[in-house]
Amino acid sequence: MIAQSPESLTNQLDLEKIFGRKAPLHVDLGCGDGSFLCALAQRMPCKNFLGIERLLGRIRSAARKAASLDNVRLLQMESFYAVRYLLPAESVETFYLLFPDPWPKRRHQRRRIVTPDFLNSVHVALEQNGAIYIATDHLDYFQKIKGIAESTPGFAIDDADVDLPQSKFGLIFGQKGAPIYWVSLREISPVK
Ligand SMILES: C[S@@+](CC[C@H](N)C(=O)[O-])C[C@H]1O[C@@H](n2cnc3c(N)ncnc32)[C@H](O)[C@@H]1O
Repeated sequence: MIAQSPESLTNQLDLEKIFGRKAPLHVDLGCGDGSFLCALAQRMPCKNFLGIERLLGRIRSAARKAASLDNVRLLQMESFYAVRYLLPAESVETFYLLFPDPWPKRRHQRRRIVTPDFLNSVHVALEQNGAIYIATDHLDYFQKIKGIAESTPGFAIDDADVDLPQSKFGLIFGQKGAPIYWVSLREISPVK
């Protein structure tokens, strides 16, 4: 595993060079301590896993967990920037956005990551038929995400039927008995 800065903040990532092989790419946006990322990477050794997280302490925790995994890389960066500018078009098989900060106060809600611009950038980065899985414990944010997804062309929306490892926050919310809302958006445009 390599925790690294990109060679350039403006050139797209050379994924084959970074992973040392060509394989389907899964990206965990806001990967936190890397529990989910590393569990999934162990389950699917034939795929490449990129965790993106803006906090250094969490990237370091994730790096410790990923130390023995050849198919995990970590990027300390703002997720939307990375999706928009650093991931090549049609390079991602699956995105995960698990428990994005909900910013519950109305005056802070413009800080939420899921916006029409964000989903458009996700759409560009996804392979044909690729998907983004989103989970939140926050009903208002969930409804807003679904509303934005419905008005963004090129996605089929499903209630995600998920058989995925628990993330750290998934575990915490699950232990509290909080309802967890899932949605998956599948890329369905025939042509980009
Ligand atoms: C509630 S935690 C969830 C962490 C992890 N996904 C999980 O389920 O355990 C949200 C994480 O996203 C990170 N984060 C929030 N906004 C981000 C952004 N715009 N870019 C990168 N990381 C972000 C936070 O630092 C935090 O680690």
